[in-house]
Amino acid sequence: MKNVLKNDGQKEKTPAERLISRFNDSLPFDKRLYKYDIAGSIAHAKMLGLEGIIDKKDSIAIINGLSSILSDIDEGVLKLHGAEDIHMFIEAELTSRIGDAGKKLHTARSRNDQSVTGLRLYVRDAASGLKARLTGLISVLCKIADEYSPALMPGYTHMQRAQPVTLGHHLCAYCEMFLRDIHRFNNSFISADCCPLGSGALAGTTFPIDREVTAHEMGFSGLSANSMDAVSDRDFCIDFVSACAVTMMHLSRFCEELILWSGAEFGFVKMADEYTTGSSMMPQKRNPDMAELIRGKTGRVYGSLTALLTMMKGLPLTYNKDMQEDKEAVFNAHDTLDICLAVFSGMIATAKFDTGKMKAAVTGGFMAATDIADYLVKKGAAFRDAYHITKEIVGYCEKNNLGLAGLSAADFSRFSPLFGSDITDAVKPENMVKNRAVIGGAADVKQNIRSIVARLEHLGRMTGQARKA
Ligand code: ARG
Repeated sequence: MKNVLKNDGQKEKTPAERLISRFNDSLPFDKRLYKYDIAGSIAHAKMLGLEGIIDKKDSIAIINGLSSILSDIDEGVLKLHGAEDIHMFIEAELTSRIGDAGKKLHTARSRNDQSVTGLRLYVRDAASGLKARLTGLISVLCKIADEYSPALMPGYTHMQRAQPVTLGHHLCAYCEMFLRDIHRFNNSFISADCCPLGSGALAGTTFPIDREVTAHEMGFSGLSANSMDAVSDRDFCIDFVSACAVTMMHLSRFCEELILWSGAEFGFVKMADEYTTGSSMMPQKRNPDMAELIRGKTGRVYGSLTALLTMMKGLPLTYNKDMQEDKEAVFNAHDTLDICLAVFSGMIATAKFDTGKMKAAVTGGFMAATDIADYLVKKGAAFRDAYHITKEIVGYCEKNNLGLAGLSAADFSRFSPLFGSDITDAVKPENMVKNRAVIGGAADVKQNIRSIVARLEHLGRMTGQARKA
């Protein structure tokens, strides 16, 4: 059966055509770019009118037509289907609304520069949105860190208790990671913030367009300098998805800790009911599903990054249809990180920390070992000698089933004449924290929080937040 006419005069698609349309069309996913495509087309039509490339009245008719399409899509009146991609859909719809003037919109442009322009506008907005989410999360964390700045807990290396820290110190460590993520999204904004429109299919255009006008209309801060690069560059997608992947990696580490801490072996934290689920079989369970899902979804964002890097590997200049695969990777990374940040922020804001359990985990073990060695050094021993003396003390305690805190000053002095009565103070967990007053150390949490807040404000003033797409 081939191209049978339907009642409305349109040709019926053959099975092969239907299959190819399902395979080739990007409208099912690039429809979410509609407002960016329309913004690009309005800027282009305005410039074409200003430069006298098309009649002013055609330019005005196009702009009005596009605005009416935009509001109809926004209101859900106009459904997006029946075209290969969002660009062809909007042009066809425009022409059906305003007639011949609509056919002039595509003067001096190609879908190659048009589609990458829309995607750059999208990525700029997405980077700003994720930056706002991260800003919110850091603010929540700073509040909790401040509240728990004196709350003792073990700090771990190799998942073994190492030295006492505070919950505030631990939470601030994540703030540092998320601050770097904001910095990455600022950079990703900058990398997307360059206007490729005017590059045409690949070599530019023969029309006397003014690229500055269109770029300015869309709020871009610069113009691409090489038309061949402009239509085939997807570095900005890779920068964006890479920033998403690193942020997901940070979230996954935090989630892993919350999952461990919420188990009975630690008992440091209890997640609010909304963020846990029961088991269908075991009535006692409070599974940390939300944290596990975030940890698991990290994989799909890494997948998007790998997809983009692989898609671009070895691609010759300029546009190749492979590049249509860019959008779903960007959307997936964006959507996944966006919801993960929203869920995580709520989960951490409502979590209840058990300071008693955390403190109990600090007392009784060997976490004072470094402090004992440091004590001896301050009394005149060389560090390596102090290290060996302390190792002997730890061995003695292990043999006699004691913690370091269980030793009296007299017990200590049997290992070295340098020990005085002040040793029992030096091994108190709160003093071990207090003594680490170095910049960035366990005692410096209040200052760390102040510095995080200051850097957050600074990053907020930088690219991405202040500008409008
Ligand atoms: N739908 C295409 C994409 O998303 C638009 C560009 C198509 N250009 C072309 N020459 N076929 O990449």
